[in-house]
Amino acid sequence: MDSYQLISRAETTHNLTEAELLQILQDSKTDPALFAAADRVRKKYVGNAVHLRALIEFTNICRNSCSYCGLRCQNQAVTRYRMNVEQIYTLAQKAAQWGYKTIVLQGGEDPFFTAELLVPLLRRIKALGLAITLSIGERPRCDYEAFKQAGADRYLLRIETTDKALYEKYNPGMSFENRLRCLQDLKQLGYETGTGILVGLPGQTPLSLAKDILFFKHLGADMIGLGPFIPNPDTPLKDAPAPQLLPALKVMALTRLLLPDINIPATTAMETLEPQGRQKALQCGANVIMPNITEGEARVNYALYPGKAAAAQAPQNLQEQLAQNLKKIGRYIGTGYGGHPPQRHC
Ligand code: 5AD
Repeated sequence: MDSYQLISRAETTHNLTEAELLQILQDSKTDPALFAAADRVRKKYVGNAVHLRALIEFTNICRNSCSYCGLRCQNQAVTRYRMNVEQIYTLAQKAAQWGYKTIVLQGGEDPFFTAELLVPLLRRIKALGLAITLSIGERPRCDYEAFKQAGADRYLLRIETTDKALYEKYNPGMSFENRLRCLQDLKQLGYETGTGILVGLPGQTPLSLAKDILFFKHLGADMIGLGPFIPNPDTPLKDAPAPQLLPALKVMALTRLLLPDINIPATTAMETLEPQGRQKALQCGANVIMPNITEGEARVNYALYPGKAAAAQAPQNLQEQLAQNLKKIGRYIGTGYGGHPPQRHC
């Protein structure tokens, strides 16, 4: 079957085999058709609302040494910071005042933030009426359970790549099995579970990307965050080839075809690569934006990769500007919690 036929069939069946995914990934002539199909599926299943998640990057201290990431513990070029509980709570309060319905608490794997410390904070934040997403890496199941009971609703943990050899090469000291265990625990505990990958890691093949997409479906992911790998000069992968937006957009579009009603953010890495990257993503399947509301030095020092988009942009007035830009492409800021599965939209 030619790629056009595969895309059009997937638009209604939401299924593609590994070989079919591979064919589309390797076919560039059908890219416009793929993006248009993903955009229609997005509109049909999750509508024109774009859900905002206020991102709080509360610590850049990390015990891991991922070869692609600027927060790796060996990197001495980054100034480390750790917010205290009151600072985090104050930012959450601001997010609620500014009308956000969800906050994302994201950080490196910082052993300082024990479950004992986080649980009371989560309870207080929950009382603000916010949905809480955590993105704080691998933890024992009992921690995930405690966070859930304290009010956490969602959890983001990218698998980064489903190629086990590649995973273990770029995440030294970490185990692929443990990462899978974490994702399964999160699903079982009833979290809306998000995962995702880096697109364009050296040694990653189109076949590996096809397998990644099938993994998202197999897991029953509620959210998928993916973006281009952007080489960071302070990491071992500094000399990797220049990053590209297109392959990441293709993986995103295929993900939308196969998991039609999930939440997919237009990620910061996409915006960093191209000024219109975010808008392109929103027109290739994405339906979520995660404005970074981290303030001050912390905002500058959460340096995963160079040029992290809008590092200097002030969080205030952001929504107004965003609403105007969204309006130009027929979209609007969602007013609900924007969870998964979606509430029926009209
Ligand atoms: N380029 C793009 N994304 C990166 N991440 C880490 N380093 C980079 C990079 N150099 C992503 C990882 C991680 C998320 C928080 O940021 O996928 O899960």
